[in-house]
Amino acid sequence: MATVVVVGTQWGDEGKGKVVDLLTARADYVARFQGGNNAGHTLVVGGKKIILHLTPSGILHPDKVCLIGNGVVVDPKVLLEELDRLRDFGVGVAPEKLVISAYAHVIMPYHRRLDLARENRKGHGKIGTTGRGIGPCYEDKVARTGVRIHHLLDETTLRRRLEAVLDEKNFLLTHYYRQDPVDLEATLDEYLGYGRLLAPYVGDVSARLNQAISERRSVLFEGAQGTHLDVDHGTYPFVTSSNTLAGNACCGSGVGPTKIDHVVGIMKAYTTRVGGGPFPTELSDPIGERIRTCGGEFGSTTGRPRRCGWLDLCVVKDAVRLNGLATLAVTKLDVLTGLPVVRMAVGYRCDGTVLDGLPPEIDRIERCQPIYEELQGWEEDIRNVRRFDDLPTAARRYLEAVQDHVGLPFSIVSVGPGREETIMLKDPFDS
Ligand code: IMP
Repeated sequence: MATVVVVGTQWGDEGKGKVVDLLTARADYVARFQGGNNAGHTLVVGGKKIILHLTPSGILHPDKVCLIGNGVVVDPKVLLEELDRLRDFGVGVAPEKLVISAYAHVIMPYHRRLDLARENRKGHGKIGTTGRGIGPCYEDKVARTGVRIHHLLDETTLRRRLEAVLDEKNFLLTHYYRQDPVDLEATLDEYLGYGRLLAPYVGDVSARLNQAISERRSVLFEGAQGTHLDVDHGTYPFVTSSNTLAGNACCGSGVGPTKIDHVVGIMKAYTTRVGGGPFPTELSDPIGERIRTCGGEFGSTTGRPRRCGWLDLCVVKDAVRLNGLATLAVTKLDVLTGLPVVRMAVGYRCDGTVLDGLPPEIDRIERCQPIYEELQGWEEDIRNVRRFDDLPTAARRYLEAVQDHVGLPFSIVSVGPGREETIMLKDPFDS
């Protein structure tokens, strides 16, 4: 029994959903610790499709407890709609199966409105946010003007919180963004209503997780977004508003760092990015287009086409260091099948020097020219391969080159979207 953190090593959308789904089978508890409904993964069960943005996918398993930690920002309307959709899907969510931290912050209507209004005003230099109010909600958390889940359970406190904050929000909305104000009474009614519906699920996530760990139960911490969208260590300001790194599994759920056994980094066999920001190995050519089509690279939250490019090992090596990764899980290797040659960036040339990681300044990253290692591609369909040694030689060489540059073993190689289309090399729960 062990505790395992799963994080993305790139800019999100690494295929965490499938790996989390596989590992969930081995876990008793699955916890989210950051982000909100800017994330999303599509799950196919019995031929039916469901997209989850907030609830860990463990919710589809009858015997798992799912937890939404204090580090997550919760849009209660979205969460309740998700629970309804799960019910229609045939998955009832009893309060014993889902615990929402009382300390988690709530995305309010003014957060969504401000997120969109700001992006619209930006023009050039847009972050390309998902427009879900994530950033403004985290801002209020840090400014100590936020609304937390437990505030929704008490009318007097919620009224006081809203009175304190709405003056300023409405001033911004009406005078700066020339929009209608948010009405206090209507917001109070709506959010107290959400509070009543969510009350049975509200609990102490930290206490539940620590208890589970002391009973030697298995816990999976499910990261959202990816390493380079981290608000501190990512390509700032083209980042999300939370710490996406493995270390935040602890702060975002109330578990101490000594309790984490294994950290898995998910690495897609190529690179994608949605929204703005630098991307040294981006391909604006037919190969990029082919990767987008074959890989189905369209956002599950916003439907936006993802920008696609070659695998960038500078990005991955930074992720190894920043997260203290123990193993890598490679996803979507099959998408590269059929390309005559495959490339991976092993360094950058920038302003006359050679770099092996991303520099802090955006304009310098934009001047980075990838140094590529070029390998032979493979033609053979690999979706039926279940053993590493049965992969075509060229596919094996590609993975071995990654391993040599990054210096980490693989735990999982995914060769197709299905659960069974997987080469399992090391079970992270056997730490
Ligand atoms: P926000 O998280 O909505 O504030 O968006 C900030 C940046 O993070 C934008 O570039 C988004 O496209 C990106 N982003 C947020 N969530 C995800 C995700 O789950 N996958 C990939 N990119 C994301």
